[in-house]
Amino acid sequence: MIQDTYGRVHDYLRISLTDNCNLRCFYCMPEEEYAFAPASKLMQVDEIEKLAKIFVAQGVKKIRLTGGEPLVRKDAPKIIEALGKLDVELAITTNGIRVDEMLPQLMAANIKAINISLDTLQQDKFLKITRRDLYHRVRSNIELLLHHNIRVKINVVVMKDFNDNEILDFIALTKHNNIEIRFIEFMPFSGNKWSSNQVFTMHEILSEIATKYDAIPVVAELNDTSKRFMIPSHVGSFAVISTMSAPFCDTCNRMRLTADGKLKNCLFSKSETDLLTPLRNGEAILPLIQETILAKAKELGGQFSGAFETIDTATIDNRSMITIGG
Ligand code: GTP
Ligand code: 5AD
Ligand code: SF4
Repeated sequence: MIQDTYGRVHDYLRISLTDNCNLRCFYCMPEEEYAFAPASKLMQVDEIEKLAKIFVAQGVKKIRLTGGEPLVRKDAPKIIEALGKLDVELAITTNGIRVDEMLPQLMAANIKAINISLDTLQQDKFLKITRRDLYHRVRSNIELLLHHNIRVKINVVVMKDFNDNEILDFIALTKHNNIEIRFIEFMPFSGNKWSSNQVFTMHEILSEIATKYDAIPVVAELNDTSKRFMIPSHVGSFAVISTMSAPFCDTCNRMRLTADGKLKNCLFSKSETDLLTPLRNGEAILPLIQETILAKAKELGGQFSGAFETIDTATIDNRSMITIGG
């Protein structure tokens, strides 16, 4: 069992497969020209498998593959196949663009649920956010997953005066589609041009929805990142991930492995522990994992405290989101 000093049991591992992506979302990529990590620095298929097995032996029940965009990696099918054999729930968060190409492998690995990042239902705004004209591809891939009875959650990063006017459009999608829309408060990372003025809070999101619907809270699972709701006449549901206005760190069960094999004990932690070099040198990995989790801060990587409006953007010092994977 992997436990921290606050008694939080860590049984969920997020593995980033690559810092590369086939989109260029402005809130995720650093501002300056970004050089993707060379392949030699990335964990190889057998290394991912070896590390994953160490975590699973310690009680990890869920592994989520993230990126950048996990499905741009050429050997993603091999990784999915290898991890699909472990006694663990395998999940994936993707931008959805290559889902059609990888569907057979995803189904063979018994992946039952996929989280898709989609921040707008407007083709021109999609192009503005991602700098790629692939909106319809993502929409048709969502249809494809639903057609194959794979559960779909859509992650929507809500930014004030940018896409907050689409909240009700996203809710309308849940009327006839069995999907969960998850509205995410915009979070600060190095170089992503975050400002507290752009955070559209859970309170604001729920107020907007209340102008048209009576939403009912759904009892959450213990370690959920989101607060869930249903609207009685809708087949789908919605949820809010309130990192900035109402952090949920007291029930955190998550560890993160970056594509270059560094373990992070929190999304916002500055320190990270290299597991890949010791693995390549044949050294013991478990003590490194335990030490890293024992050093975990109570909340938000110890980086922020108090109201998010008081965060000084000059002090944000973390990897950019594309190299963490959310
Ligand atoms: P489920 O397992 O389906 O609940 O997904 P998830 O929320 O664990 O993962 P996903 O990759 O879909 O992430 C959705 C959003 O939640 C992203 O913006 C993540 O950055 C954020 N998120 C995921 N895990 C954490 C966490 O431990 N802390 C915080 N603050 N945010 C997180
Ligand atoms: N704030 C909140 N969520 C973010 N994501 C990426 N960058 C941010 C940010 N700055 C989300 C993506 C993806 C998930 C893994 O993280 O939309 O769905
Ligand atoms: Fe866990 Fe850090 Fe996220 Fe809080 S901010 S829920 S401690 S990963």
